[in-house]
Amino acid sequence: MAKIITVFGATGGQGGGVVDALLTDPAFKVRAVTRNVNSDKAQKLKARGAEVVAANVDEPDSVKAALKGAYGCFVVTNYWDHFDAARETKQGKDAVDAAKEVGIKHFVYSGLENVQRTLGIPCEHFDSKAAVEEYLQQSGLPFTSVRFSLYFDNFTTILVPTKVGENKFALNLPMGSVPLDGVAVRDGGEVIHQIFVKEKEFMGKFVGIGGDRLTMEQYAAILSKHLAPKKFVDGKITVEQYKALGFPGATEMGNMFDFYQRGNPERNVELCRQLHPKIRNFEQWVLDNKDALNKATS
Ligand SMILES: NC(=O)c1ccc[n+]([C@@H]2O[C@H](COP(=O)([O-])OP(=O)(O)OC[C@H]3O[C@@H](n4cnc5c(N)ncnc54)[C@H](OP(=O)(O)O)[C@@H]3O)[C@@H](O)[C@H]2O)c1
Repeated sequence: MAKIITVFGATGGQGGGVVDALLTDPAFKVRAVTRNVNSDKAQKLKARGAEVVAANVDEPDSVKAALKGAYGCFVVTNYWDHFDAARETKQGKDAVDAAKEVGIKHFVYSGLENVQRTLGIPCEHFDSKAAVEEYLQQSGLPFTSVRFSLYFDNFTTILVPTKVGENKFALNLPMGSVPLDGVAVRDGGEVIHQIFVKEKEFMGKFVGIGGDRLTMEQYAAILSKHLAPKKFVDGKITVEQYKALGFPGATEMGNMFDFYQRGNPERNVELCRQLHPKIRNFEQWVLDNKDALNKATS
């Protein structure tokens, strides 16, 4: 009998990748969660063979209904929907409680580290997920927590290189000379599929999902190589300068980069490549996304 996996965030980046990967494997059946079963994305998932169900992580009864009868689940919550750490922690803890009630056999959670405890500075979208990881650990539920690296995809959305001259762009990610782990968000899905397949190996474990680990200068060199005549450089922005940019979430993101520099996040590119040999490094991702990168920097 195929195992039903309830996938939260199925219409988004992380969950979408999990759905893609699970749909290739007849050992699993996908139950895709969305708030709007009538959206184009939800309808497309249905057409590809997923069961699509409505649930809202702010409504525990709906979460419980989406989990009932499933073998496992992938749970991701979206801090950036509301910028409210307490709300994100409640969403995660409620999902843990619901999973326990219905007897989920493998709860895969998209977590992150506790920055407050590591560096003594808050980073809400990490700390809120770390609180859920701890709750999950204490719950007795069989679980794996996966921690995504920064998405390469951000270079076409929220971290588009800044134009600093004719055909010249600066990467303004405050990393100093410390390498930054990155991943194509949807590639994480196959890693998570393999975690469900090899569940015994991964029960109770924390898996850092990454496809590459490069300095800002190396990121810039790869972009320059493939988007010529555009030239990309490390903007050498500091964490303090980044936080002073003043956009909503600038301090939050600045503290995240501070953690990436000083907190030793463990992302395991080698393990991810063993689980998913086709996981892309940055260069491969750039080659696949030249049009989107050119558009973002036009
Ligand atoms: N950007 C990065 O580099 C990065 C790196 C590591 C971790 N993260 C974390 O990734 C998380 C976001 O994941 P993502 O990038 O996959 O998000 P995304 O692509 O923006 O998609 C968000 C998903 O969450 C669902 N959703 C939002 N609110 C919901 C609710 N109340 N109830 C049920 N479903 C809800 C949406 O479904 P519907 O709209 O269909 O309901 C959608 O599928 C954030 O918490 C962030 O901290 C991001």
